[in-house]
Amino acid sequence: MLYYLFLFTFFSIIGWVLEVIFRSLNARAFVNPGFLRGPYLPIYGIGALILTSCVAHMQGSNLLIKCLVYLLVTTGLEFITGFIFEGCLNIRLWNYSEKKFRIKNYICLQFSIYWLLLAFAFEYLALPMYLPFLNLLNPVAVDIFAIVVSGVIFADWTVRCAGIIWERKGKRRLLSGDDESEFMDIAGPLIEHPAVQRLAGFGHHRDKTRLDHSVEVAWHSFLLSKRLSLDCDAIVKGALLHDLFFYDWLREGPRLHGFRHPWISLRNAREVTILSKKEEDIIIKHMWPLTIIPPRYMESWVVCLVDTCCTVKDYLSVRQIVWSSQDKRPGVFSWLNQL
Ligand SMILES: [Fe+2]
Ligand SMILES: [Fe+2]
Repeated sequence: MLYYLFLFTFFSIIGWVLEVIFRSLNARAFVNPGFLRGPYLPIYGIGALILTSCVAHMQGSNLLIKCLVYLLVTTGLEFITGFIFEGCLNIRLWNYSEKKFRIKNYICLQFSIYWLLLAFAFEYLALPMYLPFLNLLNPVAVDIFAIVVSGVIFADWTVRCAGIIWERKGKRRLLSGDDESEFMDIAGPLIEHPAVQRLAGFGHHRDKTRLDHSVEVAWHSFLLSKRLSLDCDAIVKGALLHDLFFYDWLREGPRLHGFRHPWISLRNAREVTILSKKEEDIIIKHMWPLTIIPPRYMESWVVCLVDTCCTVKDYLSVRQIVWSSQDKRPGVFSWLNQL
């Protein structure tokens, strides 16, 4: 089993290298292909496993039969993968809409020919080189590599799927239902405030603006506070204003930004609105444990936790250049920006 696991991980990485070269040359910029963040494309690993089995079972078969089987296996794998990704996650990893002789934009004749050639290259070039290469390696190192890398691929896959489902759930709830109007009743006037709108001009985490981040934290804190029967008004207000500072924290601003920005945000927030003790505590303590003194209210704990989760999520979501039908839709937070 470890032998097959190594084959899977090894060719997942080789496939990633091939795709990076192909896509980056086409785009004239580095493109990290696929759905996962790491340097592997499991579809190539699965393809290698299937083709290895075909090679083993088709010794002595004539060229025409091999062509048909390889074509069916590689194009079938491509179709099933495209179908599952679009059907389950609404993500399209590739798009053949501009190619001729295609089926549902998942497969096309041109790439099916490429896969066929690649399948023969796998049989006559890759496999004859792979087997002696495998014999050179320490068997224990091979086993460890296979277990660790497949574990990483599995973890990457789980985190990525969970992130997408979590984000969609949040968006769906925000775009429909009573929660949305209740949230907007509290948050709307504050979001419209020019000082809060100014946050849209500052990047915060990767490609997310500080306004996007603040609204996201406010929204998830609001949902949690409803479940826990907490003070929704205070939590939305505190969360919206928790990062109310006006500098690019990666390039400018005070030293020890992590420790000091809650106080800067509080000072700015006091100029925007009158704050209760609880709302002030939410803002000051959102960076706990950096702020040493722990949050005093349950609402402060919630915002602190949600802020951390949103931040981790933003940094785990490496921006990947993949074609997605989601890209065509206005993001919920840019929708809020337009208020
Ligand atoms: Fe912060
Ligand atoms: Fe934050």
